Amino acid sequence: MTRALPFSAPWLLAPMEGVTEPCFRDLVLARNPAQSLGGAYTEFVRVSGAPIPRAVLARQLGPSRFPQPVGVQLMGSDLAHLARSAANAVAAGAPLVDLNFGCPSKRAVAGCAGSALLREPAALASIVRAVADAVDVPVTAKIRAGYDDASRVEELARAVEQGGAALLTVHCRTRAEGYCDEVDWTRIARAVRAVSIPVCGNGGIASFEDLERMRSETGARFAMVGRGALADPWIFSGRRVDSGEAAHFLGDYAEAMRVRGGLSPRAVAARIKQLLRHWTAGGLVRSEADRTSLLREQDPEALLGQLEAAQAGLGPSSTQRTPPVSISATHALQ
Ligand SMILES: Cc1cc2nc3c(=O)[nH]c(=O)nc-3n(C[C@H](O)[C@H](O)[C@H](O)COP(=O)(O)O)c2cc1C
Repeated sequence: MTRALPFSAPWLLAPMEGVTEPCFRDLVLARNPAQSLGGAYTEFVRVSGAPIPRAVLARQLGPSRFPQPVGVQLMGSDLAHLARSAANAVAAGAPLVDLNFGCPSKRAVAGCAGSALLREPAALASIVRAVADAVDVPVTAKIRAGYDDASRVEELARAVEQGGAALLTVHCRTRAEGYCDEVDWTRIARAVRAVSIPVCGNGGIASFEDLERMRSETGARFAMVGRGALADPWIFSGRRVDSGEAAHFLGDYAEAMRVRGGLSPRAVAARIKQLLRHWTAGGLVRSEADRTSLLREQDPEALLGQLEAAQAGLGPSSTQRTPPVSISATHALQ
């Protein structure tokens, strides 16, 4: 049975552990219209000893709803537990379920999950099949181009298709390549040619222009952005924001994590720094020396104070800004 993909546009926000929890994801979804950012995914949910309860999956989805769909990503290798977890995700409101076959961590590989399954295309296909049979929403799968090398990317793509996935995302780096700077998009093009289901290309998209370039160079119907969205959350719409609006995003993020997430100032500062390592939007981080000094700030209050100061310094250009999304406005979208 063909299940229509619910995405409102071809650009997608990648699942990122420790990043695409509801606070960050909601801010990105609210700042990019549905005509440019077509959907997003939760960070992966590990499925090992037992199915994941519905309430846990509902927390991953968060209370807010946007025009764009947010899929729940699951990672594991136990067919029954994955199938039950997928059904629970749908019961929790997930409009699609994604399967992670790319996580390179030692823990995932030791548990025969994530990228470990890139060595076993038949097992990978069985997992997709078990989950696709368990739910009536589209099931998508995200692979890396291979484990040690990319020689089997076509075979892996076909395994995903045979399992009944509605979309295949290909992160063009192999597990061995980790998160290296070099990317080879021809591997995505090879996957596109190997299957008839839609493909989403991922890896190394650093600008709005790269999104369309990914599609034209690979033939992929969708393109997914990971760290490029940490550098510039507006990457999907190509809007160039000023430093005030960029600071406002970080301020809203800090507030959401504190109020909604219940995080301590230290934990909030750690999350902000995770973005600042990549951040380019609005020229807020003017030099690598600036970045280093922000990242070296040991005192969470001082780091947040610097952000507040930048926010308070909104200049006359702020009249051209779209209204910032306040925490309460985000909740109003539920
Ligand atoms: C901090 C971080 C966490 C990630 N967590 C996940 C995850 O939970 N699930 C997943 O499939 N990929 C995960 N990835 C991989 C990204 O989804 C993406 O495939 C990768 O970053 C390559 O895209 P990019 O070059 O645009 O960053 C993660 C990447 C990063 C940097």
